[in-house]
Amino acid sequence: MNHTPIDNARIDRAPIDNAPTGSTTSPEPRAWWKEAVIYQIYPRSFADSNGDGIGDLPGITAHLPYLAKLGVDVLWLSPVYQSPNDDNGYDISDYRAIMKEFGTMADFDEMLETAHGLGLKIVMDLVVNHTSDEHTWFLESRKSRENPFRDYYIWKDPKDGKAPNNWQSSFSGSAWEFDEATGMYYLHCFSKKQPDLNWENPKVRNEVFDMMTWWCEKGIDGFRMDVISMISKDPAFPDGEVTDGLYGDMSPYVCNGPHVHEYLQEMRSRVLSRYDLLTVGEAAGVTIDEAKKYANLDGTELNMVFHFEHVNAGETADTVLGKWGYEKPSMPRLRSILNKWQLELEGQAWGSLYWDNHDQPRAVSRFGDDSPQWRVRSAKMLATCLHLMKGTPYIYQGEELGMTNLHFTSPQQFRDIEEINAWKQYVVDNQIIDPDTMLKCFSAVARDNSRTPMQWDASTCAGFTTGTPWIPVNENYTEINAEAALADPDSIFYYYQKLIRLRHENPIIVYGRFVPLLEDSNTIYAYERRLEDSRLLVACNWTPQTRECRIFDSIPETGTELISNVASHEKGVLQPYEARAVLLP
Ligand code: GLC
Ligand code: CA
Repeated sequence: MNHTPIDNARIDRAPIDNAPTGSTTSPEPRAWWKEAVIYQIYPRSFADSNGDGIGDLPGITAHLPYLAKLGVDVLWLSPVYQSPNDDNGYDISDYRAIMKEFGTMADFDEMLETAHGLGLKIVMDLVVNHTSDEHTWFLESRKSRENPFRDYYIWKDPKDGKAPNNWQSSFSGSAWEFDEATGMYYLHCFSKKQPDLNWENPKVRNEVFDMMTWWCEKGIDGFRMDVISMISKDPAFPDGEVTDGLYGDMSPYVCNGPHVHEYLQEMRSRVLSRYDLLTVGEAAGVTIDEAKKYANLDGTELNMVFHFEHVNAGETADTVLGKWGYEKPSMPRLRSILNKWQLELEGQAWGSLYWDNHDQPRAVSRFGDDSPQWRVRSAKMLATCLHLMKGTPYIYQGEELGMTNLHFTSPQQFRDIEEINAWKQYVVDNQIIDPDTMLKCFSAVARDNSRTPMQWDASTCAGFTTGTPWIPVNENYTEINAEAALADPDSIFYYYQKLIRLRHENPIIVYGRFVPLLEDSNTIYAYERRLEDSRLLVACNWTPQTRECRIFDSIPETGTELISNVASHEKGVLQPYEARAVLLP
């Protein structure tokens, strides 16, 4: 026997990044961040403590017991730093200060201490591809060509009196903004209030590493790194392919650029290696081969990355609609993407698992069935399917309640800069997409779908605020809310709680090898996990009809059902949206 069996009790946290604390012969070194479940908080929409309509840090602190009850290990906070909020905090004007609307540094310290007291770790969003244009570095940088901060950002001379190239920013329009004061353009891959930092400048890297160290010394437990795959640009700045008749696609020239791995290795040796952290890179444009470098098992860069292939599976071939495609991606297509990542990362890199976040629509609306008849069952099915795969699972606030998309009926509802700018560019200015189609697209995939306030109870404004919420509450809050979920033993909340507990108790869920099953099925997503002699069989019916499925027909007496979203089973079939997992010792 080569492997030391892993204790069935909750596993002790490995003290050092990537250090094998359990089995020394297992190909998979143990680490606490592999065994953890992460819960993402979008602070602006989580809980408002003072009635100004904006979620805040005391609001989070007040609800920590709820999260401890759910059983998650780590909270990732979307940015809480000082920001003019052009992109809801992803435009930072001071990395060492808290956004006024969210509270004070004392509120932060209190939240951190309370969280730690409850056994919850805190992971901060690290937004260092760009700053706000109101950051002092940029205010200095734009003053003159000779300013000592000039090279903190990416400045280029006009080309034939126009922008240096045809790149479109991720939030519509040109990725270049002309600055009168010095007659040059600066690059902004996102809004013009988010100028890109110049990572080639060692001073910029020093500033970032110092700032990260400052937060680590405060006692935080990790970083989620915003668009970290974009910090190194192709030095040739070539024009991109034009698909919508307006601008060029910059992604091949800004994602996974020539120095990105070098910079992350430097970050690892200068900062990350000195602390026991969870690090996850948001890796726009990442391929599996790139992911194997970012999240390699030697631990020279990051613990894991978020890829986008499965959440982009609904994009259309329509060159104009592109990322706004509203069609539901088919299960076989999703499965082939997810299985491919499972198999290819095995033994090479660690993965992350998610259905949604603050940039994506609600999971149950996009991948499941948010009709009253099937919402609860399909939300549980999706959770089962994802949480029992290999990788670290992420839950986005409200997902554990089965919160749903908004239905957009008018542009007055938009809060997100991405939606506002796209509407202007495609519907108003160029009339390339008609308003009804665009509203349909937004209802399916816009980011505001997941940014509506957390639904705590059935009182006015869902218990999120006593004032006027910054973004409207989803009307279904009287039915879908945390209070109702906590009162119902069959709720989605308790199902997630159970999935999280199962992960803590069963090493096979964390470390077992992933083996796809029934890959020809159009209706059943099934797979197996294997660790030593044990097997975990998982099958999920992705349709609202009863479907044939024989994989549980001959399970031995010793098999134990770990979880299922239906009360009783029928032989040879899975009921509508049924999910079932059976452990064979
Ligand atoms: C990431 C964030 C997103 C933000 C963008 C620019 O994709 O998740 O919310 O708008 O980066 O910072
Ligand atoms: Ca508030």
